Amino acid sequence: MSSHLLSVDSLSRDHVDHLLRVAARMEPIAQRRQVTRVLEGAVLGNLFFEASTRTRVSFNAAFCRLGGSVCDTTGFTFSSMAKGESLYDTSRVMSGYCDAIVMRHPEQGSVAEFAAATHVPVINGGDGPGEHPSQALLDLYTIDKEFTRLGKSLAGAHVLLTGDLRYGRTVHSLIKLLSLYAPMRLTLVAPPGLEMPSHLIDLVASRGHRVEQRDSLASDFSDLDVVYTTRIQKERFTAEMSEGFSLSRDFTVDRAFLDARCSDTTIVMHPLPRDSRPDANDLDVDLNGDPRLAIFRQTDNGIPVRMAIFATLLQVEELIEKDLRPVRWFVPGRVGVDDAPF
Ligand code: ASP
Ligand code: CP
Repeated sequence: MSSHLLSVDSLSRDHVDHLLRVAARMEPIAQRRQVTRVLEGAVLGNLFFEASTRTRVSFNAAFCRLGGSVCDTTGFTFSSMAKGESLYDTSRVMSGYCDAIVMRHPEQGSVAEFAAATHVPVINGGDGPGEHPSQALLDLYTIDKEFTRLGKSLAGAHVLLTGDLRYGRTVHSLIKLLSLYAPMRLTLVAPPGLEMPSHLIDLVASRGHRVEQRDSLASDFSDLDVVYTTRIQKERFTAEMSEGFSLSRDFTVDRAFLDARCSDTTIVMHPLPRDSRPDANDLDVDLNGDPRLAIFRQTDNGIPVRMAIFATLLQVEELIEKDLRPVRWFVPGRVGVDDAPF
């Protein structure tokens, strides 16, 4: 693994497996049973130039749970980029203050440009419609954990990716990551104009996976293991695209779709946020409380995976177990009122 995490392209299958193993070792800390101070004294710089809840807060929390401290900047308005400062200068300045940097930016390639000006590890927290590598790692970690619970294997699995596959950076990173594993079946369903970029389909097909594109969810998905649905990324649409675009209800994953077309062991994932406004037709809230809905287990998994990324980049993963002690505060057994008992 290089000193930055900018794209899943820099990860081999061995790197990914190692990261997921380190993430599993982080679980006692992520689940608030144990405390470590292994990153005591280290400072994380969080630079977010686009909206974020999960990525910003969970990278922050992951660093704190390893014993480090965090400096947060959100939005261009409160950064000197608003005064015309370049990515290069910002990167060099931040590197003098911080031991690791997470950055989200609306332009594809911008985080890599920033990282080229520093030796301090930089993590891409999302660059426009480009990539979101830490999300793909936590998605894969989630699939692996859910499959272990269900007695399933990734080899030969059937995964449906649906929604905005053109601008959704999480699916761009995820499909590449999945393609490192044993051949599986990938079905892609997107509204017209929002299909997965062809270079990604070609890459995955060239690695021996069976990829099928469909224009509707109205098929039999009874052998489906994972449905991964995504929000329409309207903020990335051109003016002509936005005009008159509305997502038809036919693309909505809801309880009726799951009950009629999938099975009891099909898990539902979404990188979140889900757009819960009435006309958005994003993942339906009627699945709340259904154990197949894995979205909040998925967000919880962001903590151990992001801890593993820091531990690996800052080379402390072998020290973790030496430094553990039990937590002293009250932690509820289940954090959500609808959480399944596993
Ligand atoms: N939160 C994810 C991202 O930033 C997905 C989304 O926003 O729809 O890429
Ligand atoms: N999944 C994700 O990146 O969420 P945020 O946009 O809230 O960070």
